[in-house]
Amino acid sequence: MKKVLFVCLGNICRSPIAEGIFQHMVNETSSDIYVDSAGTASYHLGELPDKRARQVCEERGIKLTHRARAFSKNDFDQFDYILAMDNQNLANILNLKPTHSRAIVQLMRDFDPKHKGAEVPDPYFGEMDGFVEVFEMLERCCDVLLEDMIKTKDHS
Ligand code: 4NP
Repeated sequence: MKKVLFVCLGNICRSPIAEGIFQHMVNETSSDIYVDSAGTASYHLGELPDKRARQVCEERGIKLTHRARAFSKNDFDQFDYILAMDNQNLANILNLKPTHSRAIVQLMRDFDPKHKGAEVPDPYFGEMDGFVEVFEMLERCCDVLLEDMIKTKDHS
């Protein structure tokens, strides 16, 4: 079973939205993929996702139940893919990466057909429209990621 971890800063906005969207797609396609999310900071440990994140997802048929947790070095042993929302998250993750780790660590938007390699902007200090924008870009990325994982599953 392949395992994917989405990582942002607080683990209450971007990465739980990505987790919710991707889990939904995994369920719909009956794919054998484990999905989780984590944050590089620990301000919100144990909390549900931000109300606006839950709302934008719920309006699109996705219920977020994740509880915020901190990214840790152990995650390199558990996950095949570790996908960072922005360059700061990516740098923090790579700082902890053991040299033996074979986990694929990349930016989430490396999978965005519309703007490959861009960052997922932090919507926390903005308005609801920022959450909608984040949802839509994450949905595009999740689509491509899942297709990629299904295509490559026989080669691992
Ligand atoms: P996230 O957004 O990294 O997408 O979960 C944030 C959530 C909380 C904070 C910053 C970003 N904060 O500063 O508390």
